[in-house]
Amino acid sequence: MSNFEVIIYEKQNEIGYVTLNRPHALNAYNLQMRDELYQVLAAIKDDPEVKVAIFRGAGERAFCAGADLTEFLTAPSPVIARQVRWERDVWGLFLSITKPLIAALHGYVLGSGIEMALCCDIRVASEDAQFGVPEVGLGIIPAAGGSQTLPRVIGRAQALEVLLTGRWIKAEEARRLKLVNQVVPRGDLLPAAERLANKIRIYNPMAISYAKQAITRGLDLSLEQGLELEANLGGCLLNLRT
Ligand code: COA
Repeated sequence: MSNFEVIIYEKQNEIGYVTLNRPHALNAYNLQMRDELYQVLAAIKDDPEVKVAIFRGAGERAFCAGADLTEFLTAPSPVIARQVRWERDVWGLFLSITKPLIAALHGYVLGSGIEMALCCDIRVASEDAQFGVPEVGLGIIPAAGGSQTLPRVIGRAQALEVLLTGRWIKAEEARRLKLVNQVVPRGDLLPAAERLANKIRIYNPMAISYAKQAITRGLDLSLEQGLELEANLGGCLLNLRT
């Protein structure tokens, strides 16, 4: 895992640390980052030594300023793009991870940046964080799940307003909208994320994984189906423990 160019992946105390590392370009998400992120996510998913992961951005100015606009007009044809997506579905992989994922967000959190954060389970932001979904202004729509994940987190009307107007949101409003769980001073961002990770990692990883699935999968079901899911997961967990 040491050959990466635009992502730093480290493991410490059962926590996987993923750092987007293109600070000169405000950590814009390019093809290289997509390929490296795919490998890192697969490692987090499979590695029993990692119980929880923290995602953050290198440098002082951004978690991630969205898709790399210098690659914007060099995108492959839709057919190739669809094939690549099928072979390397980063966002599907992200959402399939049953371990808790925490986003530590500072500075610009735009486009794919906010979408990446929305693939995480808990979002901590520093006071300087600014969020935006600028895709419509570029004549496109979110391509990393944002049109689906954003309304599930902040609700339909708010998500539509943010997406259709391209309006940016500052940290405190993001907390009010429940886009982020907490806002902390910049210097406390990583420690705050680590405090959460350290509380989670001491618990039985199967109980954590099943609890995450009960909520994340259950949200897309009716209450009746959700209760059935909860009963099934609870039963499986009991069987595993006996
Ligand atoms: N893709 C590629 N490079 C990007 C980038 C992106 N999405 N966002 C920023 N950068 C690069 C800039 O080109 C600049 O590079 P340079 O120093 O080689 O010229 C560097 O990051 C710093 O950005 P800069 O624009 O100079 O900083 P700023 O403080 O004036 O503005 C932003 C910051 C975020 C407002 C501005 O960079 C911006 O609007 N970025 C694009 C956001 C966007 O639309 N993302 C796509 C979503 S789909």
